[in-house]
Amino acid sequence: MVSRVWLISDTHFGHPAPYDKFVDPATGVVGRSWASNVKEGDEFIRDMWAETIRPQDIVYHLGDAVVAGRRDALEHLAAMSSLPGRKRLLIGNHDPSPIKHRAAYEEVFEDVMSVKRLKAGAYLSHYPIHESSLMMRVKGGATIHARNIHGHTHHEVVRMENGEPNPHYLNVCVEKTGGLPILLEAALGRGASGRPDGIRTSVGGSPGAGSPERGEFSSGTSEGGGEAARRGMATVA
Ligand SMILES: [Fe+2]
Repeated sequence: MVSRVWLISDTHFGHPAPYDKFVDPATGVVGRSWASNVKEGDEFIRDMWAETIRPQDIVYHLGDAVVAGRRDALEHLAAMSSLPGRKRLLIGNHDPSPIKHRAAYEEVFEDVMSVKRLKAGAYLSHYPIHESSLMMRVKGGATIHARNIHGHTHHEVVRMENGEPNPHYLNVCVEKTGGLPILLEAALGRGASGRPDGIRTSVGGSPGAGSPERGEFSSGTSEGGGEAARRGMATVA
């Protein structure tokens, strides 16, 4: 069976912050989300993950999986091992130390790193990478301006000097994705949807294509959408 590659960031399991500045994928309006508390918010993300990702799929979590310093941070980290997929972590500033808690990470993630270079022309990272570092030499010797798929900025996007969203960056924090994992092909602007549960997720604003902010993740439900999707999309405010 073909394995697919998914992206998600800043789940902050066990912490309420992601649910306070949720971006409505239809309108771009920032507001409080469908989740009224951290338990509901965690449950929604977990439900969507479980409905979307198959065991053989690869999932890059772009950091801040949990929040270090909270009493139950390591419990939330351990609970991620029950979610499907081969998980890899781009370490975030709020994640517990991967040196101190190496064994805990090894239970969940098959790799923990700070930056991942994809031959497809993208860098994955928690923090946005400075644009001068996004030049990438590709097969055949050409140099391209790669895309940086990142987390950390929550409901905000990386902007150019004129204030417009920078099309070379894509923020996949859960506030921006409606809590959903995003297919890598879609994040690269290849027009894939790939959601098996009937939820269509598309990403516009491929490099050079203009603003990726409004509607960069447009999600809707259709027949066959899962319960978690209906619950979430019905209450996005
Ligand atoms: Fe974060």
